[in-house]
Amino acid sequence: MNLEEIRAHYPGLSRGIQLNTGGVGLPSREVHAAVQAGFDQLYEEHVPPIEWYTLTHQAADTARARLAAFLGAAESEITLTVSTADGLAAVIGGLSWEPGDEVLITSEEHPVPHQAVIGLQERYGVVLKSVEIDHDPAVVLERTGEALTPRTRLICMSHVTTDTGLVVPAEEICRLARERGVPTLWDGCHAVAQIPVDLGEMGCDYYASNCYKWMLGPIGTGFLYVSEEARQGLKPLLRPHDPEAGAAQYVTSTPAYALYAGVAATIDLMESFGGVEAIQRESARKAEALKASFDAVPGVLVLSSRRPDSQTGTVTFAIEGVDGGQVSTALKERWQIVQRATYLTDPSGVRISVAFYISEAELDALVEAVKVLAAEGGWE
Ligand SMILES: Cc1ncc(COP(=O)(O)O)c(C=O)c1O
Repeated sequence: MNLEEIRAHYPGLSRGIQLNTGGVGLPSREVHAAVQAGFDQLYEEHVPPIEWYTLTHQAADTARARLAAFLGAAESEITLTVSTADGLAAVIGGLSWEPGDEVLITSEEHPVPHQAVIGLQERYGVVLKSVEIDHDPAVVLERTGEALTPRTRLICMSHVTTDTGLVVPAEEICRLARERGVPTLWDGCHAVAQIPVDLGEMGCDYYASNCYKWMLGPIGTGFLYVSEEARQGLKPLLRPHDPEAGAAQYVTSTPAYALYAGVAATIDLMESFGGVEAIQRESARKAEALKASFDAVPGVLVLSSRRPDSQTGTVTFAIEGVDGGQVSTALKERWQIVQRATYLTDPSGVRISVAFYISEAELDALVEAVKVLAAEGGWE
């Protein structure tokens, strides 16, 4: 990869050091141009709104086809959403619940899926069970197996966890779940475009994500995958159930279809860089180097996995004795380094998204800043 050429596609990289792609990724010039062209038709070229609706709907259908191919899914298994939460809600609200039904999550879930299942607890008396995360995928799989009971109605987990960027052994968990007749719903926010995701191979029932993090698409775009088989059992809240209709039946709102042109544009651009495998290699190389640099700083602990089978481009670290929130604020205010504090790790730390477009010089600047903070140590 020629990093200088790649970085030229992302003008936002010139504003500070952007290490929070796991929060919101940087849109490329191409994404901007595609979205703007869509809205310009309405606001500059004065295409009649109802025609614009049809035109942008067609552009969204094209994006859906591109997404399906990108994710190893059939077009009829993908529906466009506004966000991950949108997709999770369609599934959680479309299943039937009884008091005492159990839902398995992991110990490292973002508030959006976590609160969704807590809602089930409050409304229906569903029991929430948490599988403790471990860097070793075999341990996570074993713990999941142990937590399954005849009352388990859903496994709802992150494919890659939110705070430490750990890869959960999704394919193996899906296989186990199928053997036990339990559907799986995945939150793919930190997986899609960070690691290769092939939903057909993975064998899941439902998979929800947005397109604005590692996919670097526009905010306001996401997707939900409902496998052909799972469609038989999911009865959407807002429409009659039609098992013959595609996944599009599960989300009934009218989004700004013009935004989805940005999804197709970002997929095209990533493919021009060699695809997700090339992107993953680039991040992995820099993430490993960053962990090694942190190892050399006294008082700094790396909290993310170092195992090839569970690590990603997310590098989470803590400074011993210092709250992660304080470290995060100092990095932002004193060095204009954008990242985020963790809220689920113990100790609390800071999450660094080492996306492929980050330069070694930027990571060196981060390490220098962390050295200063670690030497200053235990502030109030
Ligand atoms: C793991 C995870 N799940 C869900 C969400 C919420 O995503 P959305 O805004 O697409 O609903 C986030 C966003 O930060 C996240 O990191």
